[in-house]
Amino acid sequence: MNVVAVNGGPRKGKISKTATMLEALLDGCRHAGANTEVINLREKEVRACNGCYTCWTKTPGKCVQDDDMKEILEKYRRADLHILATPLYFWGPTALMKNFIDRSMPLSHPFFLEKDGLLTHPPRDYTPAPKVILSVCGFPELDHFEPLSHWFHFMAGRGLGSIVAEIYRPASEFLPAPPFRQQYEEILAATRQAGIELITRGKVTKETLAVIQQDLMDKAAYIKMGNAYFQGEIDRWEAKRASK
Ligand SMILES: Cc1cc2nc3c(=O)[nH]c(=O)nc-3n(C[C@H](O)[C@H](O)[C@H](O)COP(=O)(O)O)c2cc1C
Repeated sequence: MNVVAVNGGPRKGKISKTATMLEALLDGCRHAGANTEVINLREKEVRACNGCYTCWTKTPGKCVQDDDMKEILEKYRRADLHILATPLYFWGPTALMKNFIDRSMPLSHPFFLEKDGLLTHPPRDYTPAPKVILSVCGFPELDHFEPLSHWFHFMAGRGLGSIVAEIYRPASEFLPAPPFRQQYEEILAATRQAGIELITRGKVTKETLAVIQQDLMDKAAYIKMGNAYFQGEIDRWEAKRASK
């Protein structure tokens, strides 16, 4: 199985919880025998869609822009499973991820088709691969992922590929903090397990998801720790400036 992951996170390395969880997930996929590839959008030149509709009219299926999206779309088309990974930014995907999705217009035909009572544009000569959505967010409640989840499900309903799993991890910025070291290890091990399950069973089990989404602390503790962290950072920078 050929797994193509698109990472819309602007940060890299261990500081990015999206990248860290994505790597654990892909490690599990590889362990179960899949081939994996990550497309880090932050490293690519993908200009904004200019809305010209050339890819639907003058050169059907081809974008007028000559940038990395050409190669990315070829890989995306050929994948058996898509993983769309994005941190939650203002209750939605990052601009990098949204831009990637806008630029996938050449993969659709312009013609209108009715599907489940609403019009849509059918895929152009390919079957959209099933999708896994992976996202992390700063706030501690899972409810913050609702708008993102709704958006991806709406697109899936319009024919852009079914969603086989959603892996959402709240309170992401606290994961590497020393008090949560053991939980972070468990969460990453469960994320790797999710990758194995995706390849061997085509889904992530409830038990695995429950470990990934375990609570780190109650809301009062979160507010206290979160506010102390930001106040500490503000003070640290102020002290640094004052010492110059
Ligand atoms: C511009 C911006 C918008 C954000 N919006 C949200 C948000 O709507 N909800 C939330 O819980 N966290 C939000 N966050 C926090 C990020 O989701 C969180 O820091 C996450 O760990 C970032 O992913 P990364 O670690 O892969 O970079 C936002 C962060 C930034 C920089």
